[in-house]
Amino acid sequence: MELFAHRGASAYAPENTLPAFRKALELGARGIELDVQLTSDGVPVVFHDFFLDKKTNSSGLVRKLSWKEISALDAGSWFSNEYKGTRIPTLEEVLEIVPRDVCLNIEIKALSLFKEPIARKVCDIMAADAERDYMISSFNHQSLKEVQELDNNVRIGILTSSHMLNVVDYVESSGLKPYSLNPEASYLTNEYVADAHRKGWKVLSYVVNSPEMAEIVAQTGIDGIFSDYPDLEIPASV
Ligand code: G3P
Ligand code: MG
Repeated sequence: MELFAHRGASAYAPENTLPAFRKALELGARGIELDVQLTSDGVPVVFHDFFLDKKTNSSGLVRKLSWKEISALDAGSWFSNEYKGTRIPTLEEVLEIVPRDVCLNIEIKALSLFKEPIARKVCDIMAADAERDYMISSFNHQSLKEVQELDNNVRIGILTSSHMLNVVDYVESSGLKPYSLNPEASYLTNEYVADAHRKGWKVLSYVVNSPEMAEIVAQTGIDGIFSDYPDLEIPASV
């Protein structure tokens, strides 16, 4: 099973920051997941919540602030004093520190209400970064559609956060051609994984933070997990 460091090594450093990505690399992560959204002036920044309130010293929607304003925020103090002053990075700043052979799972965070050019911005940045191992995932399947239309070769991960009665029907009728299905771990079943594999899709599941849970999800035959602990012990094979 592959392991993606979820928001970097987010158990050890403030999520989605350069220290969290450096820590993940230090712990030997071969895959890193991060969340991207756009600032008001269209800069892709790495941040999970749509609102700044919980994890910075500011408030309101990320998309309402410019890059200049976002870049001045403290995204580390909420985690611990040690990280006071840690900034929200741009996607490009993360690309500078993550080796090209570490697989980046770039999750697009986009509110459907706002028609933002986030798929294009992310695709443009990634296309300019030759030889990079990466995939793009999202709960916003419209964004994935846009990615697919922009570049048919990008590996796409379809994120879901509820039980789906017939995921194969859904995916086939959506027109998406996924590399993987990325379901929340509590909705996994052996049948789900077998159905996906029959279609040639991998299954990557989130968020798995304990050896016990890793053992349980491994039983379903999945291909990978997202974990806040890049050093989590992964069951060999089941
Ligand atoms: O991509 C896996 C996981 O990151 C999806 O959920 O809310 O942590 O972005 P979330
Ligand atoms: Mg994510």
